[in-house]
Amino acid sequence: MILVVGASGHVGTELIAQLAGSGHKVRAMTRRPEKLSPPGGVEVVRGDATDPSGLSSAFAGVDRAFLMSAENTGAAPRPTHLPRLVEAAARAGVEHVVLLSVYSGGTGGDAIADWHARTEHAVTGSGLDWTLLRPGRFMSNALQWAAQIQRGNEVNIPFATRPSASIDPADIAAVAAVALTTDGHRGAAYQMSGPEVLTPVEELAVLAVLLHRPLRAVEPPLDAVRAAMSRTGMPDSVLDAILARTRDTHEGTQLLPTVADLLGRPPRPFARWAADHIHLFTDRARAHHDHQRADPRAGPAMGRGRAARRDRRPGRDDHRRLHPHRPGRLCARPGPITCAALLSSLIPLITAAFSGTDVLFFSGLCSIRSASFPRIPPVKEMVWQWAR
Ligand SMILES: NC(=O)c1ccc[n+]([C@@H]2O[C@H](COP(=O)([O-])OP(=O)(O)OC[C@H]3O[C@@H](n4cnc5c(N)ncnc54)[C@H](OP(=O)(O)O)[C@@H]3O)[C@@H](O)[C@H]2O)c1
Repeated sequence: MILVVGASGHVGTELIAQLAGSGHKVRAMTRRPEKLSPPGGVEVVRGDATDPSGLSSAFAGVDRAFLMSAENTGAAPRPTHLPRLVEAAARAGVEHVVLLSVYSGGTGGDAIADWHARTEHAVTGSGLDWTLLRPGRFMSNALQWAAQIQRGNEVNIPFATRPSASIDPADIAAVAAVALTTDGHRGAAYQMSGPEVLTPVEELAVLAVLLHRPLRAVEPPLDAVRAAMSRTGMPDSVLDAILARTRDTHEGTQLLPTVADLLGRPPRPFARWAADHIHLFTDRARAHHDHQRADPRAGPAMGRGRAARRDRRPGRDDHRRLHPHRPGRLCARPGPITCAALLSSLIPLITAAFSGTDVLFFSGLCSIRSASFPRIPPVKEMVWQWAR
């Protein structure tokens, strides 16, 4: 039996699906079993790392476990959640644990490094067999923008131009599944990245293409970021460490071969993650999708006016139109929507050629630029403003 702690989290959800899908006996741990909808055959157990008494039943009969902790760095003088989980695992006779750690583990010499060194040591010093997973920034962190995107096109993003080789949690889960179910991973620490280095601004541009909206990143001043983080109760030492790492280092920007080496395929690009999760970024789009499912006569959104095109819920295949290595760019082989946009943009050009109207000629040029280079929001916006 494999226990997955954090089964409702970004990695945990993927991991239980992948393990159950390949026929393993899986137990999913959560504090709220009533909220979890796991795949068939997965056993769900209530467990809370703040309540050690309840952990014995979660670990009973388990031989391998995926561990993670959601305890905030610096929330206590030292980590408490992870050591409790490890103690429960050891008491239950678990043989091998795979820990979801962080990119640099315990290295760095600051308050963050100190916290994660202690977390990792709880596992590596436990006497259990272990594997450490050290991923960089999760692609799913983009979901922090979802509420703002639902309200409008302006998105407040701290450190908006800080690049990172962010990784799809599904890839972390796939590596965890390999480590838990195949030989040769005990005692290994896997540092992992995604396939490309993007800034949050560039990730937002990918979402803008998928949502057909002119999303704009606004970077708040550093003072405001610091004040907001401080209000969450984060100690100054951790705050300083986060700001210093983000501002002064290139941590997390290296492209690492780990995922490809372990999985035999490249890590998934941000455009793929975004296409799979785009419905989480807009309620209206989800409502539209539900409406379409309920009434097939409604037909596809495209071709039913500008508003419908803007709010269209992108299909699962939309990511294929995005260039895999140049976020926001369309692939060389455009899809039907791009072709339609290019053709329709020719109409004002031809009209302009005959009428000599500068405005129409300008709008035609903008339409072509905006269809071919959706990463240039001002041009798109000019066209939309003009069209309105
Ligand atoms: N986000 C990143 O960029 C990133 C990068 C590198 C490493 N990491 C590491 O990845 C881990 C997950 O990160 P995340 O923020 O993205 O989290 P997440 O996927 O949102 O998952 C949080 C999970 O923690 C569980 N949880 C919360 N409190 C718990 C408790 N007291 N006892 C047991 N389970 C509890 C929740 O389960 P229930 O609510 O269902 O109980 C939920 O499944 C963290 O350890 C983080 O350090 C994150």
